[in-house]
Amino acid sequence: MILDLKELKPGERQDYLQHAIAPRPICFASTIDKKGNVNLSPFSFFNLFSYTPPIVVFSPLRRVRDSSTKHTLQNILEVPEVVINVVDYDMVQQTSLASCEYSRGTNEFIKAGFTAEPATIVSPPMVKESKVKMECNVIEVKPLGDSGGAGNLVICEVMKMHIDDSILDENKRIDQQKLHHVARLGGNWYCRVDESNLFIVEKPNRQLGIGVDVLPASIRESKILTGNNLGQLANVHEYPIIDPSFDDDHLKQITQYYSVSPDEMEKELHSYAKQLLEQGKVNEAWQVLLAGD
Ligand SMILES: Cc1cc2nc3c(=O)[nH]c(=O)nc-3n(C[C@H](O)[C@H](O)[C@H](O)COP(=O)(O)O)c2cc1C
Repeated sequence: MILDLKELKPGERQDYLQHAIAPRPICFASTIDKKGNVNLSPFSFFNLFSYTPPIVVFSPLRRVRDSSTKHTLQNILEVPEVVINVVDYDMVQQTSLASCEYSRGTNEFIKAGFTAEPATIVSPPMVKESKVKMECNVIEVKPLGDSGGAGNLVICEVMKMHIDDSILDENKRIDQQKLHHVARLGGNWYCRVDESNLFIVEKPNRQLGIGVDVLPASIRESKILTGNNLGQLANVHEYPIIDPSFDDDHLKQITQYYSVSPDEMEKELHSYAKQLLEQGKVNEAWQVLLAGD
């Protein structure tokens, strides 16, 4: 299926784009109006765009229903400050409650049962229950249109971060395994980050991977090795050579047993290399594959 976005109704555009561009982190934005009334609302059109200066952007859209603007945006135009609170799994139901369209001036801290904690340099309060809070100055608001569904980019400079000690490691860095983010996907779908679904992808910073194009055709066109496996193999920075000290019983069995049948041997070697790659053992997998050359 190919979609021409101009042909779709706003609701359909929203549906396809939100399912496809996911998961999105959630900015739980605390703002105030010029009379000091507090507002708290979640926005998943949100991300980090720069470290120097430290810039994050979120987007309160005009309502599709009647093109009206959200209280968060109205507040920011009056008082250009915001506290962005990171949403974790323990907060997700209350955060969703805070997204109800309460009337202007309703304090969603109270409605959703969160604790307001004074910030140090901006006037909107922080959400005490959030494990990471960012005090931000709004440096620009960029409207993207006047119709329903039009975004308003709220460009924020992060001035201070408050990080709960419980999610820090021994070097005072955020331990990714301890911050159980939730993120928004399409419709009512959310996902949760935790130890069971986190994984690491090795990425050499300075050295270049050799590239899939350099792999021999027998590996590149393997019916057994997957795209992920090829990505791992091609991420080494020098083409590996046979290591005579590599001593592996299973490899010995394969080379002895299948010595009269090279095609079968290749399949067995690829299957074994795949197993090793899935355990993150890239060098070992290369040794297994080189044994078939
Ligand atoms: C998790 C979540 C993410 C949301 N993301 C957005 C968003 O990125 N932009 C938006 O305009 N509305 C978003 N909404 C809806 C707003 O939170 C909702 O319209 C809210 O009533 C706005 O409040 P306000 O008028 O007090 O600012 C989201 C709602 C939820 C629950």
